[in-house]
Amino acid sequence: YQLADDFPQDFLWGASTSAFQVEGAAKIDGKGITVADQRSKKGKYLDTSISVDHYHHLEEDVALMAELGLKSYRFSISWARIFPHGNDEKPNQKGVDFYDKLIKLLVKNKIEPIVTLFHFDCPVALVEQYGGWASRRAITDYYRYAKTLFELYGDRVNYWLTINEQSLLANVPAMNGIKDDNMLKLRQKGENSNYNMFLAQAKVYALCHELFPEAKIGPAVSYMTNFPYDHTSANALKSKSMEDLISFIDMDVALRGELPSYYLRYLKDNKLVLDIHDGDEEILQNGRANFLGLNWYSTSVFKLSHQENPKMLAGVISNVEKVRDKRLMNSEWDFSYDPVGLRFALQKVNDRYPNIPIIITECGWPEREELDNGAVHDQKRIKYLNGHIFELREAIRDGVNVISFNPWSFLDLLSVNDGMDKRYGLVFVNRDNESEKDLARYPKDSFYFYQKVIKTNAKNV
Ligand code: BG6
Repeated sequence: YQLADDFPQDFLWGASTSAFQVEGAAKIDGKGITVADQRSKKGKYLDTSISVDHYHHLEEDVALMAELGLKSYRFSISWARIFPHGNDEKPNQKGVDFYDKLIKLLVKNKIEPIVTLFHFDCPVALVEQYGGWASRRAITDYYRYAKTLFELYGDRVNYWLTINEQSLLANVPAMNGIKDDNMLKLRQKGENSNYNMFLAQAKVYALCHELFPEAKIGPAVSYMTNFPYDHTSANALKSKSMEDLISFIDMDVALRGELPSYYLRYLKDNKLVLDIHDGDEEILQNGRANFLGLNWYSTSVFKLSHQENPKMLAGVISNVEKVRDKRLMNSEWDFSYDPVGLRFALQKVNDRYPNIPIIITECGWPEREELDNGAVHDQKRIKYLNGHIFELREAIRDGVNVISFNPWSFLDLLSVNDGMDKRYGLVFVNRDNESEKDLARYPKDSFYFYQKVIKTNAKNV
């Protein structure tokens, strides 16, 4: 028996982004429109045609990654930049070239690409053609898209993430462009899409293992670590079942290759029915992930409530109330600072799937920020990073197999819910919700803190 006593020397210190949140160039060079492009509409400059214009700042941005000393960079490929309609006969060459150039630049700078295939940006054409992920046809198109990416970049990419935060997409079907005025029908479509995403991923895991046996592939799971409001078993049960249905479901299917019983019970109780075909069970059994990507931000406290809470996700978490723990450092949004929660969360995952390799695919602190003479003194973000890196080392000492940490986000980007008001970046981008300004990049104080972490393998933490 041997326990690690520190971060391994080859630990992948990284950072994270997603395509529509950084790239811009949403309507040029042949790219098709995605549901993310349609969603972001608040304010003239908030649309994804600009974002933070990573598309036209590629060299500069990778140079900053190199200056930071990144060992990995987690980004997503936009399906509609490769296949504008999701299932075109041939890929869009300009899109192929863009990601080829990005991957080449990363490899040249010894930065390991960690590539997400699908991050909240379903091509609109697939929704128009057949309803998108709610239809089984999406399985075929996603598989073909993934195969194309493996063939194009598989010789240089060792880490793949299939779908970002599937449970969120399943519970908020509009995130996948799926609509219905009838709530029950909408939830049914959401679960159809959930099931189709499970099948599609299983097929893609199997394909990746076959084509690149050395590569690692897994889901990027929204890992909400919940605590009950008090010691009552009713609140404890509610908080656990939410964690099962939001987080462990995606891990269980990816690693155990079957739908868990708590999910079947949930479907039954809610009169939701899956369209299961012959052969589906084998598909799930034969396609498993070989690592977990975890998006982890903070812990949450929940209590059972007897009122439907319309602000909560449909279905799964109705009848609950989220309670703010005032003892913690809270952000303006729904995030608290609770780094011990990360160690606790990682232990739970390791108990459930012993020694599974884990990549932290997101972890970050949101703030409203402005430039101060070319600098941003983001002390709370430094505190957040320091606390989480400290606890990450504790988790490694506990025996958890964490291989990479990719804070959200490398640079300021369009927040899904709050545009540029809510910044997560290590690098400030000079634009706001009202104006595109000059989009100039300025490393924040947290950039220099993290640079030292990487350089010393966290001796400064
Ligand atoms: C994660 C997503 O759910 O949370 C990211 O994968 C997102 O895309 C992040 O940006 C934070 O959420 P928000 O709404 O603050 O951008």
